[in-house]
Amino acid sequence: MSTGQRQHADPRGNGSPRRVSDVFEVMRTRSAMRSYTEEPVADAVLERMLDALLAAPSASNKQAWAFVVVRDPARVRRVRAFCPGIIGVPALILVACFDRTQAPDDPGMLRVGRLCVAMAVQNFLLAGHALGLGGCPVSSFLVEPVRSLLDLPRHLDPVLVVPVGHPARQAEPSQRRAKAEVIRYETWK
Ligand SMILES: Cc1cc2nc3c(=O)[nH]c(=O)nc-3n(C[C@H](O)[C@H](O)[C@H](O)COP(=O)(O)O)c2cc1C
Repeated sequence: MSTGQRQHADPRGNGSPRRVSDVFEVMRTRSAMRSYTEEPVADAVLERMLDALLAAPSASNKQAWAFVVVRDPARVRRVRAFCPGIIGVPALILVACFDRTQAPDDPGMLRVGRLCVAMAVQNFLLAGHALGLGGCPVSSFLVEPVRSLLDLPRHLDPVLVVPVGHPARQAEPSQRRAKAEVIRYETWK
C-alpha cells in the first residue's frame, strides 16, 4: 500500500512522517483510534481512502453498499450525539450502509451484505492508517436518528459508523489472544 504526502506532525513528536508503506506493517500497527485533533482531513487523502473502501471484495460482487461521508462540523456533532460508541470528536464520520435494493430476492444477502460492508470499512480504516489518520469501527449507535439526520431511504441499513481524524495521541496496540489458542491446522482437535 503506497502512501501520499505527509499530512500532519507525528503525535510522538519526533518530526517523522507517520505514513506506513508496507501492507504488513499497516496491518500490524493499526489500532482503534478514538482521540482526534481538530485538523480536517484533506480531500485528496479522503479520496484515496474512499478508493480503498470501494476496492473491497463483496459477495457475488454485488457491492450492496452505500456510504455517506459527513464532514460538516455541525452535522458531525449532530450525528455523534446519537453514537455513544464515538468517543472523541472526529474530523469526519463515514456512515456505512447495506443497500437492500442490490439483493432483493436473496434473504441470505442481508447477513452476507453486512459482512461486505464491514470488509469495505476495514479497507477504509487501513488506508487511513497508512496515510497517517486514525479511526474506529463503531457499532454502538442509534439507527433511526442517524437515518433521519442523513435522510437515508428505508432501503439503506446503516451497519457501522466510522469516525476518522488526525490522531491526538499515539495508538496503543491492544492485546491479542495467543495464536495457538485460536488457530489450528486441518481440524480443530
Ligand atoms: C464490529 C465492531 C464494532 C465496534 N464497535 C465499537 C464501538 O461501538 N465503540 C468503540 O469504541 N469501539 C468499537 N469497536 C472497536 C473495538 O473496540 C476494537 O477494535 C477492539 O477493542 C480491539 O482494539 P484494536 O482495534 O485497537 O485492536 C468495534 C469494532 C468492531 C470490529
